[in-house]
Amino acid sequence: MSLEKVIEGWDGRLVSSRFDAATGGYYTIAVHSRQLGPAAGGTRAMVYSSAEDAVRDATRLAGAMTLKMVMAGLPMGGGKSTIALPMPRSHISDIQWRQVLRVHAENIAMLGGNYWTGPDVGTSSKDMDVLHAASGLAFGRSEAVGGPGSSAPETAHGVYVAIRAAMQEAGLADLADRRVVVQGLGAVGYDVARRVASEGARLVVVDIDAERCAQAAKEFGAEVIAPEGVLSVTSDVFVPCATGGVIDEEVAEDIETKVIAGAANNLLTNPLAADVLARRGIVLAPDFVANGGGAVHLVGREVLGWSPGLVSDKVERIGSTLTEIFERARYDKVGTETAARRLAAEWMSGARPSQQAAPDAVFVPPVNWTISPPR
Ligand code: NAI
Ligand code: PHE
Repeated sequence: MSLEKVIEGWDGRLVSSRFDAATGGYYTIAVHSRQLGPAAGGTRAMVYSSAEDAVRDATRLAGAMTLKMVMAGLPMGGGKSTIALPMPRSHISDIQWRQVLRVHAENIAMLGGNYWTGPDVGTSSKDMDVLHAASGLAFGRSEAVGGPGSSAPETAHGVYVAIRAAMQEAGLADLADRRVVVQGLGAVGYDVARRVASEGARLVVVDIDAERCAQAAKEFGAEVIAPEGVLSVTSDVFVPCATGGVIDEEVAEDIETKVIAGAANNLLTNPLAADVLARRGIVLAPDFVANGGGAVHLVGREVLGWSPGLVSDKVERIGSTLTEIFERARYDKVGTETAARRLAAEWMSGARPSQQAAPDAVFVPPVNWTISPPR
């Protein structure tokens, strides 16, 4: 797909891209919506197959952030950035990496507060320290410098809540002796694996990093399988916590599971895959609802001034939001993805019922709101 087609086919507000010859990186920021507040979404840094691919990823992920913010009741719009690296992060020296972050910070600052970033695949709280120091527009700095730290634990908490809500919808009472497949044992997946293992689930894990699998086998007695076999395993619950684009219509037709709930953003290649899952009686917790805990943590702590305890309480609301989506899906005879998107559209237009999480406040810039002058 050409760059024009990517942009023409997108319903967002702005894509800004830059190639920086010194670092060899292709930097993109996509602002999807500012309807509820400034756009926010993480920075994904990885090797992409092409610049178009990186722009497409940023635009699609920014759209998902808009849905995530509205479903979580947060006063932010949706945005995302991608940095297409010239080589894997492990091959980039710390000095070069700092330069990559500086270029990205300059681009963020140029958007003048319309886009706030945060951690995502390939970036960490430490990187947010650098981005924040240079732009004043990054959530998720490390605790050592006064930030709220990683979003992963609350994302994992939300995924666990989503698993329980989706299991209830599927008529599965508890996790004991259930076969649970976790794909991706990173910051979120490993934590989810720990939570489900502690309730007696029979864990099956996959990761391209053999060390993480070995650790999960040792710590939770998990069965380890090869990454390419993950979609052929029969399970009660499938927990995708690696990257997106895992379930297309063909996979939806074949996968043998009862519940799908995980953290991976843009899990489906297109919403039609969700209709196939619905027809087969597989309960899908839409990703932009199930993985909203990290956004609640970052925006709750840094914009709304919530305590860690209040953040945790708000993350529990993912369960009631999902229950409402499941009811709607049954009533409207549509897949859960469609039901969730319809609900998001209603809530965006202000029709949010009072028992649901209405945006808790208008956007208040954090205390340390500063925008460094461009270099
Ligand atoms: P991470 O980078 O810490 O972990 C990802 C893990 O997946 C790594 O261990 C990696 O080796 C593994 N992996 C990559 N490709 C794989 C494959 N093909 N098969 C098996 N394993 C593979 O990322 P993190 O933070 O755990 O996030 C996981 C997913 O959740 C990502 O898609 C991210 O966008 C999404 N997410 C994360 C949030 C957070 O707060 N960290 C919030 C919302 C969504
Ligand atoms: N990247 C994470 C997500 O997709 C965390 C994040 C949330 C980052 C909100 C920035 C803003 O949810």
